[in-house]
Amino acid sequence: MYRALYRKWRPAVFSDVAGQPHVTETLMHEVETGKLSHAYLFTGSRGTGKTTCAKILAKAVNCLHPVGGNPCGECEICRGIDDGSVLDVIEIDAASNNGVDNIRDLREEANFTPARAKYRVYIIDEVHMLSIGAFNALLKILEEPPSYVLFILATTEVHKLPPTILSRCQRFDFHHIPPESIAARLQYVAEQEKIDLTDEGAVMIARYADGALRDALSLLDRCSARGETITEEVVGACAGIAGKEYLFRMADCIASQNAADALRLIGELHASSCNMERLCVELTEHFRNLMVTKVVRDPQNLIICSKEDLRSYHDQSECFTLESILHVLSVLGDMTANLKRGLDRKIETEMAVLRLCTPSLSTDPDAMLRRIAELERRIETGIVPAAVPEIKESVPVFVEQTPAPEKEAVAAPAAAKSEPTPQKPPEPDVKAPAAAKSENALYKLWPEVLLILKETSKPLSGILVGSTATVSGKVLQINSANAALPQMLEIPLYKDAIRKAVKKISGLEMQISVRDAKQEAKKTDPLQDLISKINNLKESEG
Ligand SMILES: Nc1ncnc2c1ncn2[C@@H]1O[C@H](COP(=O)(O)OP(=O)(O)OP(=O)(O)O)[C@@H](O)[C@H]1O
Ligand SMILES: [Mg+2]
Ligand SMILES: [Zn+2]
Repeated sequence: MYRALYRKWRPAVFSDVAGQPHVTETLMHEVETGKLSHAYLFTGSRGTGKTTCAKILAKAVNCLHPVGGNPCGECEICRGIDDGSVLDVIEIDAASNNGVDNIRDLREEANFTPARAKYRVYIIDEVHMLSIGAFNALLKILEEPPSYVLFILATTEVHKLPPTILSRCQRFDFHHIPPESIAARLQYVAEQEKIDLTDEGAVMIARYADGALRDALSLLDRCSARGETITEEVVGACAGIAGKEYLFRMADCIASQNAADALRLIGELHASSCNMERLCVELTEHFRNLMVTKVVRDPQNLIICSKEDLRSYHDQSECFTLESILHVLSVLGDMTANLKRGLDRKIETEMAVLRLCTPSLSTDPDAMLRRIAELERRIETGIVPAAVPEIKESVPVFVEQTPAPEKEAVAAPAAAKSEPTPQKPPEPDVKAPAAAKSENALYKLWPEVLLILKETSKPLSGILVGSTATVSGKVLQINSANAALPQMLEIPLYKDAIRKAVKKISGLEMQISVRDAKQEAKKTDPLQDLISKINNLKESEG
């Protein structure tokens, strides 16, 4: 009869347990030195080795010739436990034996000394399923266990255990198994089973398994049933995973705001029975990788992938601003929640992707504010929407800034890349207000700068609430009633944050200075003055 790989390859010794050294080394040491607890609690997510370690421990404490804390696997006790002839290791599935009577029986039985082994070991799996009565009965025996009795409790849901039980156990937390360890174990099993598994295939399975070796081995099983070399494509097809190429293409669509191609991609994936929930997870991971490459200089330790892929991540991350990546991640987060609520998967996926490709559909407050600011600026400057303008250092900010209408929050750089920019000579702008060209004019882009700072520097954005700014040549002066601002701007980090935000919005390098609040209040226009007063008032009330 065929045995599933994950059953067949359950480790028989601690040394073969992958990715849980903090558990296995401690347990081996305890077995070696004979300093055993009478109750152990193994917790952690599914498929990470809890039951496996419980079985190994039960054998190791009884083994006649343990080897460095591992059971020998050959003595009569080890073999007897394996073939069920030694009855002193008892596995109880609390999911189906959760009543108080089950535990009372256990207590009675525990009074008898073990028949053949040194310890009578009770492995209570899924222990969180016990009833309250059963927990109380268990507590009695945990309080005064006979010296020859050892309990091993295992559960994924430790928070459901009463504290009285917890406090009587030595607890071990099983971690998500790192993908490298999973991939290595997969390669080992594949070698033994003569399965042809490529490195990329192993890494892809490991990513899919999300820390659980049982899931990884099950997927390897499914892939190997195809009888071909297990490549990334095979894994993708077996698991209903989109595959990296699709993810890069989808991200390209989002960057260039190409909703039509994005919807076509979803259609293709859906037709090839790609699981939409999985696609969401994969896309989230993809954008997480873009975020990491954008923020971290040497990201190879944080992203498991080949060198070429890392380069592709790096290239693609250039097409996004950090804010736009965060925006994508938050839309994908909403999508995950919606999928959990059982909405139609394909439609939900299409809606999310459409939202990502069309920032003008975004209704989140920041996107709305950005759009309002943009509209206000257009009205003020009287500029009709035009193609992406060429940014020239010498032109005053408020006249020349007119990005194409749809290219805002998401992926402006990519958009600029993907569409050739018509190099129209800047037309003389007759409607630009006179103030625009004069010295010390109100800096109209300031609200947008503040929006960026809200994401990039929270403390600064807090202090700048209610501020305005003026420009004079290349100097941008901030006018704020907050007395802490001048001090704050002495810290290069903060000054830089403003400079960068200004550069991002206007494309211009500006010098940043602060103006004396009281003097400035008299000079700025009365409406702005009123607005900042209201804002300051709101801030002090809030
Ligand atoms: N850390 C590990 N090292 C090697 N193999 C493992 C590990 N964890 C799980 N496995 C593989 O997965 C199978 C299931 O593991 P196990 O029953 O120990 O998981 P578990 O943590 O008890 O999961 P659950 O919470 O679902 O009961 C094992 O038979 C083994 O093949
Ligand atoms: Mg288990
Ligand atoms: Zn043995």
